[in-house]
Amino acid sequence: MSTHELYTIPAELSTWDVEMAGSARFTWEYDDGRDRMLSLYQKGKDKQWDSVKRIDWDIEVDPYNVLGVPDNTIAIYGTPLWERMGEKQRQEVRLHGAAWQFSQFLHGEQGAMICSARIVESVPDLDSKFYAATQTMDEARHAETYARFLKEKVGLAYPINEHLKALLDSTLSDSRWDMPYLGMQVLIEGLALAAFGVMRDITTKPLPKQILAYVMQDEARHVAFGRMALRDYYKNLSETERREREDFVIEGCYLMRDRLRGRETWEALDLSKQEVDEAMGHVDESDYMRLFRSLLFSRIVPCVKDIGLWSPRLQQAYADMGVLEMAGQNLEALMKQDEEIADKIDAERFTREEAERHEEVTETIAMAAD
Ligand SMILES: [Fe+2]
Ligand SMILES: [Fe+2]
Repeated sequence: MSTHELYTIPAELSTWDVEMAGSARFTWEYDDGRDRMLSLYQKGKDKQWDSVKRIDWDIEVDPYNVLGVPDNTIAIYGTPLWERMGEKQRQEVRLHGAAWQFSQFLHGEQGAMICSARIVESVPDLDSKFYAATQTMDEARHAETYARFLKEKVGLAYPINEHLKALLDSTLSDSRWDMPYLGMQVLIEGLALAAFGVMRDITTKPLPKQILAYVMQDEARHVAFGRMALRDYYKNLSETERREREDFVIEGCYLMRDRLRGRETWEALDLSKQEVDEAMGHVDESDYMRLFRSLLFSRIVPCVKDIGLWSPRLQQAYADMGVLEMAGQNLEALMKQDEEIADKIDAERFTREEAERHEEVTETIAMAAD
């Protein structure tokens, strides 16, 4: 079946072509890799996994309750608009919300795959090229996983959100080699990681939990890569160059914040223009959405600070967005936790499967004895 049959709003049938700028770089120095970059590369190779085998695709998912979370996570919950809706329309709201969210994850993963391939081409050092090659494979596996989840379990998809598309466009069409890092590794990945994290922690359903936890285990390496590469490079920027990067970050963060509003999900439902505006008002105002939006910056803000883009101007922009306090988040601790959660899920599944197998064997023996 074609994905186009799943799109609730028609997606463009042709490919989306972004004109490439800048050079593909070769280096003839094969021997001066940085130790920490090479050990990240080693880890990237060691930790590859296969979603066909690691994820338990037999688990059923209710498309009308994908994450198994209470309705108060819906922006319009408890409002007059929600009260006017019948149960059938509320079901649609739940389905479309989840389909939109996972669709943006999917398109973001394809973007990440293309950006990391771009980094392989353009970054000057071989150790970074090696590492980015493992990330390209990671992102391919993530896109594969989300695509399967949407197709087999949700059954509905959304085209890429225009703000995410705009950010990918400016990230990929820039000729400076560090821009894909900044746009993709820091902004888009940082935001996706935080969104995955919120969902991983609140979902009560085993399949999305596995997917989110396993994907996050890889993403922790990706963010580490961006920090490592940019921290080294940004130490030696001129004032003008630094200012350009900061402008890019500020603009990108506003785009990212706006992309979270998802007007298209409300437009796809059977609502009047006035009701769509009403819903959007709640998206902007509801306490849950405010909290969610500020949590989404929990990975970006400390990372931006860490790579040395931390002028008063940038801090002011974060203060205006209400996310400045996220600078205090401990990225190392968060990422260590991401790895541990995935390992813990593996361990629990393994113990459970062992127990089931043991039970089966005991039953078989008992049957034979009968
Ligand atoms: Fe990814
Ligand atoms: Fe990633």
